[in-house]
Amino acid sequence: MSGGSDSLRRVSNPTGTHVPPTADAQDSGAVRAWWQDAVFYQIYPRSFADGNGDGTGDLAGVRDRVGYLRDLGVDAIWLSPFYRSPMADGGYDVSDPCDVDPIFGTLTDFDEMLAACHAAGLRVTVDLVPNHLSDQHPWFQAALRAGPGSRERERFIFRDGRGPDGDEPPNNWPSQFGGSAWKRVPDGQWYLHIFAPEQPDLNWDNPEVPAEFDRVMRFWLDRGVDGFRVDVAHGMAKPAGLPDMDMELVRSQATVMPTSADLRWDRDHVHDYMRGFRRTLEDYDGDRMAVGEVWVADDARWAAYVRSDELNLAFNFKLIESEWGADEFRAAIDTSMAAMRAVGATSSWVLSNHDVVRHVSRYGGGEIGARRARAAALVQLSLPGAVYLYNGDELGLANVELPDEALQDPIWERSGHADRGRDGGRVPLPWSGERPPFGFSNGSRSWLPMPPEWSKLSVQAQLADPGSTLNFYRHLLGIRRQTPQLHTDSFEWIDSPAGSLSFRRGNSFVVVLNTGPAPVSLPMGDVVASSGPVDGDLLPTDTAVWLRD
Ligand code: GLC
Repeated sequence: MSGGSDSLRRVSNPTGTHVPPTADAQDSGAVRAWWQDAVFYQIYPRSFADGNGDGTGDLAGVRDRVGYLRDLGVDAIWLSPFYRSPMADGGYDVSDPCDVDPIFGTLTDFDEMLAACHAAGLRVTVDLVPNHLSDQHPWFQAALRAGPGSRERERFIFRDGRGPDGDEPPNNWPSQFGGSAWKRVPDGQWYLHIFAPEQPDLNWDNPEVPAEFDRVMRFWLDRGVDGFRVDVAHGMAKPAGLPDMDMELVRSQATVMPTSADLRWDRDHVHDYMRGFRRTLEDYDGDRMAVGEVWVADDARWAAYVRSDELNLAFNFKLIESEWGADEFRAAIDTSMAAMRAVGATSSWVLSNHDVVRHVSRYGGGEIGARRARAAALVQLSLPGAVYLYNGDELGLANVELPDEALQDPIWERSGHADRGRDGGRVPLPWSGERPPFGFSNGSRSWLPMPPEWSKLSVQAQLADPGSTLNFYRHLLGIRRQTPQLHTDSFEWIDSPAGSLSFRRGNSFVVVLNTGPAPVSLPMGDVVASSGPVDGDLLPTDTAVWLRD
């Protein structure tokens, strides 16, 4: 790696004048579908913005903030569920997938929000929750009434219990949220719920189930949505006979990702269901798309979900699993790109979502965590493929330590208070003002309490500070949009000192990340963005830059 010189380097204004497209525009190559290099912004509707003052975010809140999203510079939103739901799992327990829950508004609010997004040039993707329904969904209520052996029960996974009186669960599967994955109903049968008991798993072997989801998808596609995020795609197929699993083996293999010994996930016939989704999407124009939530450890098996007739994207969780460090990031980038390339699919890059600890906290929290998170964002936004941001990433939000009485995630109760669950990363966004709820709501409260020190992190405060994380994101997204090299597949590692990584996009755009203890020399080029101060030719620790060479 060669050293640069001061005269060749200027740090541009972080509030972001756009950089004109240069040199390798010819790299753009073949026509790409819009989602292949889009920046998606995940909205967790309860936590983004409250339009009616009840303390819970809603669709009117999203509509009112479309200008914010446009100015931020994202291309699309993904809305986590806003469907009718008793909210046993934050809306992932759906009782009517073709209606809006009153806490989020009405279908008219949805249509208005969609129109406002489209008018601002933003695509809209929504969650599809096909693995399970709410126990309050009419299908499940009918199944309870209809009794063993009925057609209604065939839509779910009901079985007789084991033991002389059938009072032991049909197999030894655990629920993802703690305890057994089976619940007994008054007539003695049991039903499977991989998540909460309020989320009975559907039986996708029953043709009525795919037919129903085809209807649900068409309902939203006809309204104009641009795509779906498929919840728990890897869980939809269950093994014939529902055998016990070897819990010792499962525990010994344990990683964040489920492995092959865990029979709840990634059964071969799941791909038939993915193909069904694709067929429905292809009945529509406009490159409608689907991204799958696919937690599968084996790279080839993960990539199988995005073969040419299956989903368009599969979330890539490797950066979420990765410890902070150049070597770890490099391995995550390499293995995921290789897996996607092997099936001709587009990569996607995620640092946080509503299910994980926010990356500011994962990287150590406080100033160090915030500094590393900015560096990670710079890398994330320069990798080839689609990017998913989680609402609040752009404000540098960390997880919040919530008091016991505030916790709402079912994991807290189901784990017997051993696991505090995911609420710490779901605290509503601070928009303005000095006191909670910081303009998130016109009312006096928010569904999860907001820390008083978030006044410094509000959108209002950050817009006024040229060095803020929000202005940093706006700057990066502006450059990304204007830089043709970032909209190609071209990617090449460059040698760099231990503790750092460097890669080139196109023939003139270079990314360097230093996670080592000492500064590293930068290669020649103009710094067009940096995640923190750059010291002449030296890139300080936990800092990343974009260079044009
Ligand atoms: C997915 C969602 C998560 C939810 C679970 C059950 O993993 O992201 O929030 O709890 O599915 O629907």
